[in-house]
Amino acid sequence: MSLPEHAAPVSFEVNGVAHSLDLPRETRLIYVLRNDLQLNGPKFGCGLGECGACTVLVDGVAARACVLTLKSVEGRKVTTLEGLGTLDLPHPVQAAFITAQAAQCGYCLNGMIMTAAAFLSRHPAPTLDEAREALRYNLCRCGTHVEILRAVMLAAQAMGAGSTAAGAATTLEGADHD
Ligand code: FES
Ligand code: FES
Repeated sequence: MSLPEHAAPVSFEVNGVAHSLDLPRETRLIYVLRNDLQLNGPKFGCGLGECGACTVLVDGVAARACVLTLKSVEGRKVTTLEGLGTLDLPHPVQAAFITAQAAQCGYCLNGMIMTAAAFLSRHPAPTLDEAREALRYNLCRCGTHVEILRAVMLAAQAMGAGSTAAGAATTLEGADHD
C-alpha cells in the first residue's frame, strides 16, 4: 500500500540549514521557501517558469522555484538570495548590482542575481554577448537591461575574470537602454 503524498517528510538543505518538512510533496518550492521558511528573496512572477523572478540554485545550478516541487529537491542543497551573501559580506554579484545601481522596481533582481551568480561560477571570464545570452530568459519589465549587464560584467571583473569583462563593463558605461 502506498503512503499518502504528505506522509513522508521531505529532507533537504536551504542556505546551509537542514530541513525536514511534512508538507504535500507536490507543493511548489516557491511556496515552501516564502510561506514556510520565510525566505522572500525568490519572487513570484509568472508562476510558469518563464520570467525567472523565482530563481534559486539547486546544487549550484539556477532553477525556477515556481515549477519545482518540494519532492524534486529531496536530498539537495538549495540556495536562495538570502544564502548567497550577507549584508556585511555580499556576493560579488550582489555588490556589483549595488555599485551599478542596476534596479528600478527591483522585482526581477533576485532572478538576475541568482542566474548571474550561477553563470559566473561556470564562466568566470564571459564576453558581453555570453552574459547577455545567459540572462536572455530572465525578464525585466522596467528595461534595466543595460545596467544589469554592466553589473554582471563588473562582478566578473571583481571575481578576477580579467580584461574582457573589464573592457565590456567600461563599454557599457553611459550606454543607453536597449
Ligand atoms: S515566477 Fe518562476 S519563472 Fe516566473
Ligand atoms: S527592475 Fe523592475 S522588473 Fe527589472
